[in-house]
Amino acid sequence: MNNIAQYLAGKVALVTGAGGDLGRGIAVRLHASGARVMIADYNRDRALQTADLLGEDESVVFDADITDSNAVQEMVGDIADRHGQIDVLVNNAGDIRDALLQDMTEVDWDYVIDLNLKGAFLCARAVAAMMIENKSGRIINISSMAYQGNIGQVNYASAKAGIVGMTKALGLELARHGIAVNCVAPGLINTPKAAMLPDKTKERLVKLTPMRRMGNIEDIANAVHFFSSDQSSYVTRQVMHVSGGMEGF
Ligand SMILES: NC(=O)c1ccc[n+]([C@@H]2O[C@H](COP(=O)([O-])OP(=O)(O)OC[C@H]3O[C@@H](n4cnc5c(N)ncnc54)[C@H](O)[C@@H]3O)[C@@H](O)[C@H]2O)c1
Repeated sequence: MNNIAQYLAGKVALVTGAGGDLGRGIAVRLHASGARVMIADYNRDRALQTADLLGEDESVVFDADITDSNAVQEMVGDIADRHGQIDVLVNNAGDIRDALLQDMTEVDWDYVIDLNLKGAFLCARAVAAMMIENKSGRIINISSMAYQGNIGQVNYASAKAGIVGMTKALGLELARHGIAVNCVAPGLINTPKAAMLPDKTKERLVKLTPMRRMGNIEDIANAVHFFSSDQSSYVTRQVMHVSGGMEGF
């Protein structure tokens, strides 16, 4: 990504789940725009692969479990010591445990809600304290078009709808401190995980998408970049559907 405008020069960005497919794409995009990217992923090997891609000594890897409030506080404290600021938080870490209602266990429910929803809350709470002091900041939450409801995903849809509610509530609460809170809801994105879906499912999802194709990781990364930079300086509490026009399942 040569010759990309440096909208994020001098900014520090924390991306959770940055060892994963979308998180890595987001980290690369923010880094290309000049940000120092803090890579948070409890899978250290994947986090290190992202750090290798960025290829800079200033991209620091944290293997904190974002569902653990002490670990989150420690990570944010460490970044504060190193850089004195976090300008951008991307709450990206997330996962699914799909099952129809009667087959969904409490373990499936708790795992998905804890990771997708509580993790974002814990990171926002820890980081916002620093942003409030600095009177500026950007929080970008990654939801999913499944927030509108999807069969077999009552846990995930609830968590991702919760992320939308969190965006709306935190956006209200934090606006007076100069902090914008926005949300990106991806549709079907061409990741290795999506590639593993049965062909029939992929075909059905593409048919539901007016653009008749999957999105790319860069499409999500570009949306996150927009919300991270001054290009969106008067935008908060918004949910951007990056879904090729698909509005539900
Ligand atoms: N891939 C898609 O097509 C798609 C579509 C819609 C929404 N999303 C959302 O985008 C986000 C990223 O998805 P992805 O496909 O890149 O997932 P992924 O599984 O590739 O990456 C998620 C990363 O989060 C890390 N992680 C998991 N639990 C963690 C924890 N407790 N603490 C710290 N790190 C943890 C994992 O190690 C992994 O590297 C998720 O929130 C997901 O719900 C993805």
